Amino acid sequence: MTAQQQILVNRDAAHLVHPLHSPSAHATAQVWAGGEGAYLVDVEGNRFIDGLSGLWNNTAGNGRSELADAAARQMKEMAFASGYVGSTNPRAIELAERLAGLTYPGINHFYLTSGGGESTDSNIKMARYYWKLMGKPEKTKVISRIWGYHGVTFAAMCATGIAPYWGMFEPRIPGFSHIPSPYPYLYEAPEGASSQGIAAADELEKKILEEGPDTVAMFIAEPVQGAGGVIVPQDDYFPRIRQICDKYDVLLVSDEVITGFGRTGRMFGLEHWGVQPDLIQFAKAITSGYFPLGGIGISDEIAAVMNDSGSPWMHAYTYSSHPVGCAVALAMLDLIEREQFVDQARDKGRRLLVKLKEALADHPHVGEVRGLGLMCAVEYVQDKAAKTPFDASEAIGSRIHAETVKRGMFSRVRGDAYCIAPPIVTDETTLDQIPQIMAEATKAVLG
Ligand SMILES: Cc1ncc(COP(=O)(O)O)c(C=O)c1O
Repeated sequence: MTAQQQILVNRDAAHLVHPLHSPSAHATAQVWAGGEGAYLVDVEGNRFIDGLSGLWNNTAGNGRSELADAAARQMKEMAFASGYVGSTNPRAIELAERLAGLTYPGINHFYLTSGGGESTDSNIKMARYYWKLMGKPEKTKVISRIWGYHGVTFAAMCATGIAPYWGMFEPRIPGFSHIPSPYPYLYEAPEGASSQGIAAADELEKKILEEGPDTVAMFIAEPVQGAGGVIVPQDDYFPRIRQICDKYDVLLVSDEVITGFGRTGRMFGLEHWGVQPDLIQFAKAITSGYFPLGGIGISDEIAAVMNDSGSPWMHAYTYSSHPVGCAVALAMLDLIEREQFVDQARDKGRRLLVKLKEALADHPHVGEVRGLGLMCAVEYVQDKAAKTPFDASEAIGSRIHAETVKRGMFSRVRGDAYCIAPPIVTDETTLDQIPQIMAEATKAVLG
């Protein structure tokens, strides 16, 4: 670290508290000052491949003047007006119309938020409200999955299935439970199961019966588990999940905060398996991170019950339908269509996954290289045959990450799974450097 960087990190430590705050983990923080397409540039002018598109969000890369201009135009025209009932604005109306045409066929009604966690809370409140209106007020429980990430506002944290997020904030809200992830690499189906995917989906039925079907409001799942380590489910998993939700009157909520708007090679993730959710949530790539905006999408059926009820939904955020966020989202949707982001993510993702496998799959400590579209992960294990993990004290994932940073790529790890989700605009030359960097970093740490 140079003297200039050290001074900035010291000033940062004096007054800033960060997400996942930990002074020791922050001691070697990067200080970013610029962005050029798929690259981040630090205060010394060094360029790094943005291996996770910021936090999975910046699919369009840095420096897109269309997005900056849309924000500036809207700020000059009208920076803000309330989105509370009785007040609206043209950009929000246009955005909802566009979303109705883009999302799953039955999802045509949208409530806008500032991000993912607020969207999780909004869906939990929508599901509870819906069941009360349906005369089933006891249906309040939320089932989600181990390794699922749905944000860390308090209700979202309870849905998130990564235990280290809970410990220091217990007790959690009652009525939240988790089933195992379908995790093709690690999930062990019981003897006699027709397939691993069906067995993993049947964990939901088991849990619903255990909790009591009359008490379960919703099941929330990411089409591809992202922050939990890029876990791509089996092809028969979500169709079976849909059947189980239908059987027990449980709403299926698709958390598309990462998978929405093209990342997996489809506009939305469940399209891979032809499954229709009842509620969706999105954030991140809808503005490519240029403005904080998220939202939920509501089925026609739920919206009709809400609209006919005469009972207001007492849920509200100051920044719901923010005109600037909506203007940036509209410009981003234009860009996604004009530059065919969905096809780009599909094709570039295939290329990246093939090359990652060529570069790494034979390494004795690479347990699995996996991905869908432009989201991939490399999972390291101590014993490849037995799939035994490394002891956490060895910090293999963090050490490999440090080696990739030395070689010009910055991303994030979940334990010993290294996540890779570069901007969709990443060119092929840059994309092809990623497997090389990963192979060198792996060799540096594991031989
Ligand atoms: C699938 C998913 N849902 C929800 C969230 C929470 O979003 P936010 O950090 O904007 O609250 C995230 C964040 O990474 C996410 O990946």
